[in-house]
Amino acid sequence: PSAHLTIAPAFTVGPVRRATFGSFVEHLGRCVYTGIYEPDHATATPEGFRGDVLELVRELGVSSVRYPGGNFVSGYRWEDGVGPADERPVRHDLAWHSLETNAFGLNEFMAWARQAEIEPMMAVNLGTRGIQESLDLLEYANGAEATALADLRRSHGVTEPHGITFWCLGNEMDGPWQLGHKTAVEYGRLAAETARAMRQYQSDLTLVACGSSSSGMPTFGEWEREVLEQAYDEIDLISAHAYYREEDDLGSFLASARDLDHFVASVAATADAVGAARKSRKRINISFDEWNVWYHAEENPAVVTGGAWPVAPAMEEDVYTVADAVVVGGLLIALLRNTDRVHSASQAQLVNAIAPIMTRPGGDAWRQTIFHPFALTARHARGEVLRVAIASDTYETARYGATDLVDAVATHDAGSGEVTVFLVNRGVDGATRVSLDASAFGGAEVLEAVTYAHSDHHWRASEEDATTVLPRSNDSAEVVDGVLALDLPAVSWSMVRLA
Ligand code: AHR
Repeated sequence: PSAHLTIAPAFTVGPVRRATFGSFVEHLGRCVYTGIYEPDHATATPEGFRGDVLELVRELGVSSVRYPGGNFVSGYRWEDGVGPADERPVRHDLAWHSLETNAFGLNEFMAWARQAEIEPMMAVNLGTRGIQESLDLLEYANGAEATALADLRRSHGVTEPHGITFWCLGNEMDGPWQLGHKTAVEYGRLAAETARAMRQYQSDLTLVACGSSSSGMPTFGEWEREVLEQAYDEIDLISAHAYYREEDDLGSFLASARDLDHFVASVAATADAVGAARKSRKRINISFDEWNVWYHAEENPAVVTGGAWPVAPAMEEDVYTVADAVVVGGLLIALLRNTDRVHSASQAQLVNAIAPIMTRPGGDAWRQTIFHPFALTARHARGEVLRVAIASDTYETARYGATDLVDAVATHDAGSGEVTVFLVNRGVDGATRVSLDASAFGGAEVLEAVTYAHSDHHWRASEEDATTVLPRSNDSAEVVDGVLALDLPAVSWSMVRLA
């Protein structure tokens, strides 16, 4: 099988946005406790942050982190997580049936964010709470004047305002599982009024309204339309969430990016239709603020049982395969390809719970398979995103029918002249020979070509062995007369840097 690809400097879609490489830290399982925060750990910073995890987060190249949830935020009282640690209340977390000690809260997160070199994306609770509590949190976090809540923050030892400008207006309010679940009109009204109030306090905020929890929701499409009819003028972005799983054929799973493309196109069309009907020149774009592969936890159910309310249980700890990593790489290709409409994205999540980084309490931290395509894409996607013209042999999938074996996107950094191409071979039966015509860039040569693949597509990293399968140099890559040729093994993700 073969695929012929063409790229040219004029095929631009939009800028590579750093915000595409966001992640997510929720008070869920061991993401916070024994994930990013473990005061007794050998590598702990004076604040109690795991130093080994901080190093891996920086290596992963994460741009922003959404916090503190997720389903968790819809029952969260932010005040519980600030002030003297020994006075913080223990609460039931109804979303994840756990006990929340509140040892880690807003100020710890912001201190961690500085050390992790990430931008915060904060969520307010629009499940059990509303406008006033959102305003209070905003004033506590960002207040510069001598007002009650800004002074309270100062009394907690944080003299400078945090300056958080990126805010989510609730989480997955379309989902019946969500605490305080609402109809689209109810939520749209609340989101609009919360946004308007928050902007009255601080005008330079970027505000995200909840879109659909998945494209499979019965309300998908209608939800976006109704929410935007209420909140179009008040918000900037609408969220999208998508998790993928290997269930029927591996080929369908490998083609998950097709669903993401369709999801983005549907939400963008809905937003534009609402905007057009309002005769608005404003454009609403997408915050893809939860995306990942998620299904292995079912093989290893949470330790929660009966009436027990554990603290930081091992929940949703997916152990990822090579095929999962190829899907994650493919989803990043689709997110980049949609950079004109997807202005921000967060992989869910960062540590332990459906995460690229795993830890053992008191022990090591290691990279899962999905770490590698994320880290390399975050590091090398630079400049403008280029659409890749693809003429590929196809394969049959149960879910999407005939699908191109090869998918790809490219980026072009005009400053350095570097062109980076990200590719997947979704074929399960064998290698695909790729030729990529880059002659429009002049005399390109290969700076680096790496491929992530393994003959066992279901190989997984573990604490004992996280290094048997790593991205390896792809020695088949060569450029002849401006045309790059390379072989992509079955079920593989690759990156080729040209200059
Ligand atoms: O990321 C895990 C959970 O998935 C989040 O809490 C929720 O928003 C989604 O359903």
